[in-house]
Amino acid sequence: MGTRSRRVVAVSVAGLLALAAVAPVFAQDADYLQRIKDAGVIRMSTDPAYPPQSEWVNGEIVGFDIDVGREIATRLGVDLALETPDWALITAGSWGDRWDFSVGSMTITSAREEVLDFTQPYYYTPAQMAASTHSGITTLEGLATGGQLHPVQQAWIDEQVPQCGYCQNGQIMTARAMLDANPNPTDAEIRAGMEGVLCRCMTYYRIQAAIKRAARETAAASFIDATDSGMTKGASA
Ligand code: FES
Repeated sequence: MGTRSRRVVAVSVAGLLALAAVAPVFAQDADYLQRIKDAGVIRMSTDPAYPPQSEWVNGEIVGFDIDVGREIATRLGVDLALETPDWALITAGSWGDRWDFSVGSMTITSAREEVLDFTQPYYYTPAQMAASTHSGITTLEGLATGGQLHPVQQAWIDEQVPQCGYCQNGQIMTARAMLDANPNPTDAEIRAGMEGVLCRCMTYYRIQAAIKRAARETAAASFIDATDSGMTKGASA
């Protein structure tokens, strides 16, 4: 029953992708899928407090997540039984055989991956924020100064980090903030500092290399600046 302690959370949905999303966990237990088919029902948990993905309307739960669950059930040839536990219970794992999978818009984090088997993400929700010009908050475009790229930006180019580019803004800004706080991080500190900034193209090793390069380049530039400063003082004395 190993797979029963680790459930699938379908975080993406899109027709054909949905079935691919639940297949890996069933593959870990050949009898699991057959048991669902024999029972004629698959049990799905969802949080109905997240419209329009999932919500109560006239006594019925409807929404995008529900459509995904129904499609999965239809393709398996079984009925869909909906469970509506608290969101905290869904994200906590240890589902205790109360449902077979969950469909919802859930951010994949390392902590959640410890207790849940995620599918590949199949949709992303754009987010934007606004800040006062006096807040000190910097954008990616604001990193370069005097026509010169920030060391992190340059290292990103030198290590050819970006693939699709989707996540790179967040990766660079997180790396820059981490290096501001810790100019010479170890590999473990880099992984910890970048945790939660996900890359679907799996550029993590290049990100780590770029951060180490940026740290080296910044340290070298600081050393040269300090040396030049000392020479200038010496020359004028
Ligand atoms: S480069 Fe594609 S998601 Fe990170």
